[in-house]
Amino acid sequence: MIYLNGEFMPIEKAVIPVLDRGFIFGDGVYEVIPVYSRLPFRLGEHLERLQASLDGIRLENPHEDSAWQEKIGRLVELNEPEDQSLYLQVTRGVARRAHAFPARTTPTVFIMSSPLLPPTPNQINNGVGAITAADNRWARCNVKSTSLLPNVLLRQLAIDAGCAETLLLRDGQLTEGSASNAFVVSNGILLAPPKSNLMLPGITYDLVLELAAANNVAHELRNISEAELAGADEIWITSSSREILPVTTLNGRPVNDGRPGHVFKRMHALYQEYKAQVMRTAHG
Ligand code: PDD
Repeated sequence: MIYLNGEFMPIEKAVIPVLDRGFIFGDGVYEVIPVYSRLPFRLGEHLERLQASLDGIRLENPHEDSAWQEKIGRLVELNEPEDQSLYLQVTRGVARRAHAFPARTTPTVFIMSSPLLPPTPNQINNGVGAITAADNRWARCNVKSTSLLPNVLLRQLAIDAGCAETLLLRDGQLTEGSASNAFVVSNGILLAPPKSNLMLPGITYDLVLELAAANNVAHELRNISEAELAGADEIWITSSSREILPVTTLNGRPVNDGRPGHVFKRMHALYQEYKAQVMRTAHG
C-alpha cells in the first residue's frame, strides 16, 4: 500500500500525470526513513531535513509535522513487514511545462513502503568495496533533491567495478558517497567532513557523531584529503538503508589489512545497542 495525494491505495493503482514537475524536471525533494519494529526511526530529524530541503527549493511544506506523522503511521500499519523502508517524495505538482514556478499548483505527495533490507552479515563482517570518482554534482548537495542523475551515474561506476559505493572527491577532498556519508579513521581518530553545501546532512551521520561523543570515541570534523583517504586505517559509509558499513577495499586495494577495523566494530555495536534501546523505550 502507498499514499498518494490524500489516498491510500495499492501501488499498482497509483498513477501521476505526465506533466508532474517531478517527472519533467526532477523538481522535488525526498526522504528515506527506516522503520524498525513498526517504529519510524528518527522521524523528527527526517521531517526537519524535509523542511530544510523544501525551503531549499522554495516549495511550501504541504503538511504540518503532525499530519506527516499521522500519514506515515497509517502507512506503516497498512503494510505487513515489521521493518520497512519509507520513501517520501514531494514535487512542485502538475503544470504545463515551463521552467518558472507555476502560479498555483498543488504539490504531489507520495509515500511508499518497501521491506527494509538490512546489510547482510557478510557485508558487516567482511566489508564492501568502494571506488573513488570526481564529485561532479551541483553545489547544493545539502538539498535532498529527486534530481539524482549525477548520483545514479556515479553509483553505476561502482557497480560496474563490482563495488558497493563510489566515494566522491571535490577539489581533492572527500565529500560523501553517491548515496551515503563517509567516515575515515586515521591515527585512531574518527574523521568526517564537516557539514556544508557539498554533502547531504545525513541522519545516520548525525547519529554516529552523537554516539561517538557520548561514548568517548575520539573524533574530529575536518576536511579529508584524497591522500588521507587512500592511507586510512578504516573507511565507513553510512545511510538510513545501510546503517554503518566498513569499506575494506578502495580502488581495488585493501584498506589497511582489508578487514573491518576495531573502531568500526565498536561503533556498529553502539549503533545496534542504541536502536534496541529506542525500540524498548517505544514499545514499553
Ligand atoms: N540516501 N548522502 C547522500 C547523497 C545520500 O543519498 C544519502 C542517503 C546519505 C545518507 O543520509 P541518511 O543517513 O540520512 O540516510 C548521504 C538515501 C538512503 C537514498 O537516496 O536512498
